[in-house]
Amino acid sequence: MNVLDAISTRRNIKQFKADPIDHDSLLSWLQAASHAPNHRMSEPWEVLVVGPQTRMKLNHKTNFGDAPVVLTVLSSPGKTPLERDENVMAVSSFIENFLLAAHEAGVGTGISSFGVSAQIREILEVPEGYDVVAMIPVGYPASVPAVKPRTPIAAKIRYLS
Ligand SMILES: Cc1cc2nc3c(=O)[nH]c(=O)nc-3n(C[C@H](O)[C@H](O)[C@H](O)COP(=O)(O)O)c2cc1C
Repeated sequence: MNVLDAISTRRNIKQFKADPIDHDSLLSWLQAASHAPNHRMSEPWEVLVVGPQTRMKLNHKTNFGDAPVVLTVLSSPGKTPLERDENVMAVSSFIENFLLAAHEAGVGTGISSFGVSAQIREILEVPEGYDVVAMIPVGYPASVPAVKPRTPIAAKIRYLS
């Protein structure tokens, strides 16, 4: 699968099979993801692998589609508002890299903002000042939703003199 195919065929997966995810493979996708651009080599991403007891406490309505693995990706605090924004941008790039690396291996992922509330942050033991950028269920897809068409990009481009 080339990069363009990976980008255009990845889907946000909502329901997963019970088949486990090989841990070394998971680590290899996360390692690859860390080649994301990041200002001053800040590498602002931190990953929580959310275990079963924590998942029970989270009480998510679909238990993340019964995914065998659930990750939470944090962005480390910045010393300034700009640095914080840049950290979240770098972590977003990290996340997309991860989603694509998993997809290339036939593994589905979702992305959820479920982790942002104060109550969920507490359950996830998120240190003060860190942003919860996303929670990511990972597993073999039980079903793959249809492609959601995108606006032709020409409508989003302006050319300056
Ligand atoms: C920052 C962010 C937060 C998201 N949060 C949720 C969410 O809470 N629940 C959900 O079902 N999808 C969530 N999504 C996934 C989008 O709904 C999904 O990417 C979009 O519908 C396009 O579908 P596709 O990724 O399959 O192309 C989120 C995506 C992003 C980038």
